[in-house]
Parts: sequence; structure tokens; C-alpha cells
Amino acid sequence: DDPTADPFEVAKEAAAAIAAATGVEKHDIALTLGSGWGKAADLIGETTATIPASDIPGFSKPALEGHVGTLRSILLPSGKRALVIGARTHYYENHGVRRVVHSVRTAAATGATTMILTNGAGGIKETWKPGTPVLISDHLNLTADSPLEGATFIDLTDLYSKRLREIAKSIDSSLDEGVYTQFRGPHYETPAEVQMAKTMGGHIVGMSTALEAIAARQAGMEILGMSLITNLAAGIQTTPLSHEEVIQAGKDAEVQISNLLAQIVSAL
Ligand code: 6GU
Repeated sequence: DDPTADPFEVAKEAAAAIAAATGVEKHDIALTLGSGWGKAADLIGETTATIPASDIPGFSKPALEGHVGTLRSILLPSGKRALVIGARTHYYENHGVRRVVHSVRTAAATGATTMILTNGAGGIKETWKPGTPVLISDHLNLTADSPLEGATFIDLTDLYSKRLREIAKSIDSSLDEGVYTQFRGPHYETPAEVQMAKTMGGHIVGMSTALEAIAARQAGMEILGMSLITNLAAGIQTTPLSHEEVIQAGKDAEVQISNLLAQIVSAL
């Protein structure tokens, strides 16, 4: 929270604390598991350490039910090491964008060169049923904020790696793609805002991921983004949206999409 602290130094301290707590000096892949994706942590490999995120510099306490505040070090069958981040800080929590992207910067500081960002989100395409996993092909960042400070002009072409999307499709050729639209939240969008997102080229609406992806790109990571469509967005579905419905849809789809993600990870 210290505004004078260099966020990259805090990330380095966090990475050192993770190395000390896990006994793993370098991680190769990092995964942020959003609503519905949590079981993937049990499926990708053998967990060698689980640590409360609140023990690590710069991480905050979990704000929401369904968001587990732990970090896990996992040994993959390939011998690679994965860091699973089950502690996401959302932009709507008002801790500022530095806190939002701290886990991504920490993952990069542990050595990870691949960042897998997952979330539960609303769908704008009527053909997507709740429970559908979708590859993020690009994003619209409607937060009017950025994790970059000062004159840091970085390219965001192919932000969500085409190469990684092709690997995912080689596991499940029916995987669809869409443009993720990050709103600030925490309210869901109005039907008019959903129509705005659609007009602008968005297919998915959510409250995370885009700011994290920008920070991951700045850190030179290759990014795979996936959304679980937990519901259709306001005005696309005619019934009101509820957080309970979103959590339930995540639980219902969890086994299937976690298996899919585990297969994708093993193919990386
Ligand atoms: Cl409809 N909107 C947003 N912003 N986030 C969501 C959602 C909708 N459904 C699940 N998460």
C-alpha cells in the first residue's frame, strides 16, 4: 500500500518469499484460477507446497467467497513447475491497479514465462450456454486504467498468444474464441452497456483479466486467457443475474473445464 514502494521490488520480495516457503527457486508457468477453474490445480500435477497468500508481501486477504486465498507450487509430469494463484485482487476492490497485477508481476519474478489467466464471465453470444469455456482472443479494457506507469509504450498485438490458443484447440477443436471486455464492476452491466460492448466488438463481459494481461505482457510473458461463460450477459439472458447463479454455474462446469485446462497445460 506504500505509494512510494516500487511495485517490481515488491514483486521480487514476494517471489523470494515464495521460493523460501515452497523450496522451489524457479517456476515456469503461472495460473490464475478464477470462478469455476479451481479444480485444475488438483489435476495438473503434484502439489508440493500450499501457502496462504496473506503470508506473501503485497497480497491481500481474499475478498470473496469462491476465491481461495492460497498459492500452490505444483510439480507437473513434465518436470516443470507451476505456480497456481488462487488469490486474485479485483479492480473493484479499490486497492488500485498495482495490487490487481501484483500476482502477475510476482509470477514473472519467480521465473514464469507463461501466464494462464482464467475467469468466470458473462457471454454476449446467444449460442454460448452456461458452462461453455471460451478462449480469449483479445480484449477491450474499459476500466480507463492501466498497470503501466509513465511513458511505457508497449505493443499489445497478439496479447493472447495465437500459439497457445492453437495448442488449446488441438486439445478441444470445438473451443470458441471471443473478445473479453473488462468492466470495472462490481455491479453487472446494464443491458445498454452490454449492447455497447457488443457494438465495440466484445463477446465476453467480466471484471478481471485485461489489466493482468497487460502487466504480464510488460513482463514479457506469453499469455493464455480463458473464460468460463457462467451466464449470458444482462439483456441477452432475460432473467436477472445473480452472484449465486454465477458461482453455481462455475461449480457445475468445474470438473469438465478443469480437466480441459489440465490437458492444455500438459500440452504446453
Ligand atoms: Cl454478465 N458481467 C460481468 N462483468 N462479470 C460477470 C458476468 C457478467 N457474469 C459473470 N461474471
